[in-house]
Formats: sequence, C-alpha cells, structure tokens
Amino acid sequence: MSFPTKRKIVIAIDGFSSCGKSTFAKEIAARIGYVFIDTGAMYRAVTLYGIEHGAIHDGTVDAAQLETLLLRIQISFSFNEQRGASDIYLNGVNVEERIRRIDVSEYVSRVSQIAAVRNRLVHMQQEMGKQKGIVMDGRDIGTVVFPDAELKIFMTADPHIRAERRYQELLGKGEKVSLEEIERNIRERDHADQTRAISPLVQAPDAVVLDNSHMTVAQQMDWVMERIDKLTETSC
Ligand code: DC
Repeated sequence: MSFPTKRKIVIAIDGFSSCGKSTFAKEIAARIGYVFIDTGAMYRAVTLYGIEHGAIHDGTVDAAQLETLLLRIQISFSFNEQRGASDIYLNGVNVEERIRRIDVSEYVSRVSQIAAVRNRLVHMQQEMGKQKGIVMDGRDIGTVVFPDAELKIFMTADPHIRAERRYQELLGKGEKVSLEEIERNIRERDHADQTRAISPLVQAPDAVVLDNSHMTVAQQMDWVMERIDKLTETSC
C-alpha cells in the first residue's frame, strides 16, 4: 500500500523592504516543514566579508577586490531551534546577528548591485532549491532565481503603514527614531530596489500579490495556506 505524499514545491517571496517577508516566509516554512532561506542575509554576509577584508571602507566599495574575495567565501545555513529559523554561517562562523548591524546595512545595497556577487549568490540559491521543499525570500526570487517556482508571492504594503510598523518595532527595542525619517528611508529603498540596473525588484507576471497593509499575520497565513494546499494536493 502506498501512502499519499504531498508534492514538494518552491515558494518564492519577493517584495518591498519592511513588508514582513521574512516573518511570513519563516512561518510558512515552520508550518509545512520546508527550509527557509533569507537571501538578503546572503548579500549581507558578502558585505561583511568585504568590510572585514579591506574591500569596503570609508564609503567606498571596491567591486574588483570583492570579486576576487568571492572565491574565498563559503555560505551555509544551520537551523537554530531557539529562533525557529536557520542562522547564516560565513566560512563556518555564525554571523546571523553581526550582519544586521548598521555598518553592513549601509553598504549592502551597493554590494547587491555588483554583477559578480549576484551571479555567485543566485547560483548558490538555485543549488539550495534543487530538491524543492523551500521557501525563499528576496527581491528576484520569482523572476531570476526560480522563474519556474510553483508559487510566487509579491508582497507589498502602504509605505506609511510599513514605516509605522518599523517605528513601533524600533521603539520597542528602545531606539530613538523619527517616524518621518523611517518613512523617507523606506521610500528611498523602494525606489533604489525598483530602479537598479541589475535584477531590479519587479513583480513576476505569474506572481500573486499580497498587500498586507490591513492584514494580520494570521490572515496572511490563511491566505497562503489555502494556496499551498491546492498546489501540493496529494499524489500517490
Ligand atoms: O532583505 P534585506 O534588507 O536583508 O536585504 C539586504 C539587501 O540585499 C537589500 O539592499 C536588498 C538586497 N537583496 C537583493 O538585492 N536581492 C535579494 N534576493 C535579496 C536582497
């Protein structure tokens, strides 16, 4: 007798920054037992390596030097039970927290515009998704990394609402910030993501749009689980 098994798929989540993509992707992966890959963390890890090895300093990014350094970079993920998600490792060292710091955030957008960096990371991401059963979030997952993904979600939310959420989050952490500054930064990043020459943020024609401006996480999960259930319907 054969038991019905769920078909494994690739779930690609793209969208604007501060839309809650990673939280959403992490929750999906936990519910259905998939691997979650935060591709932004990979661009951040390369940036960190560049900072630590002299290719990035004093406001400059030496693209040629970074390209050479790429050959020495190994990136891997390992599940962290406490966090309920995978931590990123750079050459065997856990850098999950380090890559979120301000120095990395300041340079990562420029590093992510370097063709050699994108080529290397896209290749690694494609290898990670070969066996399917993966939820990947980023900016170019449904368009470049997995153009054949079975489920593509394009996440968006009103910039003012995104700023308000981020503001509350930072206040909760005790950081002093102004709502206006956050909103300006979000709008600037939206513009940079959409207008960069290489792999800009665009909605794949076959992506479904999730505007979560007025949705709770629970409502977003109901929305996505319905779609996943249909796509993974049992096969024998
Ligand atoms: O999601 P994040 O803020 O951690 O992403 C960090 C940077 O990397 C951000 O500038 C966008 C860029 N990025 C990208 O160009 N392509 C991806 N697939 C993921 C992130």
